[in-house]
Amino acid sequence: MFQAGLPHFAVGPIVKGFGRGSRELRIPTANYPDEVVQNLPKEIATGVYCGFASVNKEEVHKMVMSIGWNPFYENSQKTMETHIMHNFQDDFYGAELRVVMLGYLRPEKKFDSVDDLIAEIRADIDAADALLNESKFSVYRTNCFFTEDDNDQQKSTEGVQKTRRRGLCNHVESCILS
Ligand SMILES: Cc1cc2nc3c(=O)[nH]c(=O)nc-3n(C[C@H](O)[C@H](O)[C@H](O)COP(=O)(O)O)c2cc1C
Repeated sequence: MFQAGLPHFAVGPIVKGFGRGSRELRIPTANYPDEVVQNLPKEIATGVYCGFASVNKEEVHKMVMSIGWNPFYENSQKTMETHIMHNFQDDFYGAELRVVMLGYLRPEKKFDSVDDLIAEIRADIDAADALLNESKFSVYRTNCFFTEDDNDQQKSTEGVQKTRRRGLCNHVESCILS
């Protein structure tokens, strides 16, 4: 379960994906723009991860994330797609998504059917639900990364470095604030 580069903190706006997550899979995902994906450290491999996420600095929830090319759909662009383990009533395109990736679950796979893909993602969610209760992970739910107020927000990569120097978020690597 050890994965180089973890924990990894990322911040960025939510952009539209292909919409298949909600439509076909009934497992909605929040997608990051390409700039955030490109900022991932090299040691973070493609695959499925779990951790915590918040939208617009509201409540922190468990999450599972897929990083890669979605071999089932053969995407041409690498994506970072977060499924937040909470029932949201509305879409939140443009909102700020904060995530901390803590555990690596598995590599991306190609499946024979949509049903098999859905079953595997459901199993990821169950695995993440249990894993994230472990104290070594659950402590991140209250990390200052999720609560720092707007005055502490970094508006640019330079801002990230300033914030890091102030010791607020030591691990922000993929950061874009709108
Ligand atoms: C936890 C999780 C695991 C995933 N695992 C895979 C996988 O193994 N193979 C794959 O092709 N896609 C995988 N996906 C990606 C889905 O195919 C993707 O979310 C779906 O295509 C919706 O994308 P869209 O919102 O951009 O339309 C996974 C997604 C999540 C959230």
